Amino acid sequence: MTGEARIIDGKVLAGEVLDRVRAAVEELKAAHGLVPGLAVVLVGDDPASRVYVRAKGKRTVEAGMRSFEYLLPADATEEELLEKVRALNANPEVHGILVQLPLPSQIDAAKVIDTIDPDKDVDGFHVINAGRLMTGQKALVPCTPRGCVLLARRVREDLTGLEAVIIGRSNIVGKPLGQLLLNENCTVTIAHSRTRDLPEVTRRADLLVAAVGRPEMVRGDWVKPGAIVIDVGINRVPAAEEGRTKLVGDVAFDEVRQVASAITPVPGGVGPMTIAMLLRNTVEAACMQKGLPMPGVLRDV
Ligand code: GUN
Repeated sequence: MTGEARIIDGKVLAGEVLDRVRAAVEELKAAHGLVPGLAVVLVGDDPASRVYVRAKGKRTVEAGMRSFEYLLPADATEEELLEKVRALNANPEVHGILVQLPLPSQIDAAKVIDTIDPDKDVDGFHVINAGRLMTGQKALVPCTPRGCVLLARRVREDLTGLEAVIIGRSNIVGKPLGQLLLNENCTVTIAHSRTRDLPEVTRRADLLVAAVGRPEMVRGDWVKPGAIVIDVGINRVPAAEEGRTKLVGDVAFDEVRQVASAITPVPGGVGPMTIAMLLRNTVEAACMQKGLPMPGVLRDV
């Protein structure tokens, strides 16, 4: 097949989700006096993490919710962070807690995630939420996989029966996305660094998701003509101009767009969806904690 794939605009879709989140928050305020609150904790001053945390705070406020931000020094102890998490667990104005990863090496991230109240775990990283997702119970679901499914459904509302191949088996993206796509009735393969003949596996995919963190690894001849391609990768690489850098995905965009029917760009694809889903999850967490149903405007999101 020749011609160019449709580009799935994550910025536009994220904007639509954020509009719905804002409407849901207004409804919750008016009907129940409920203002969803999101707490973000950053340990240390990694510049990329600071940028993410600032963006999250800004979007939270724009959506009409309360934003709580905490910056702990890079040499904070594990116990100091656990104390902060416990205080947020106990704070009724905080409905969602996100501890920005990665954490400094003196802190055990698994222990921190384990300490977050599962009902406030808007990242969906707690084992309770992973287990609920796997067993089909109501769960807070990790934001990036949720965004991937929404992007794919933007192209094709019903994903039933599709061969889905995910490259990457992380707890944050690959594994939960596998569960979500099973729930969408896809036939799911999770490929990884030890998969034999990866291009042969990816060529089977009607829906291909790349989440490995290897710049432009997925080439044009890895893709089935007409496939939907979702690129989760965000890799900073040297640009053509001396001393400059640029962002690229895990997919060789210019090649793959000649073969696929639809593809997400980097930047502007999956990235913007993640924050939108985080705010959506915060609304869901607030509703759960108050025993309220999710506002109708967010039910399909
Ligand atoms: N670091 C980069 N992305 C994320 C995310 O989605 N959640 C958390 N907690 N940390 C991150």
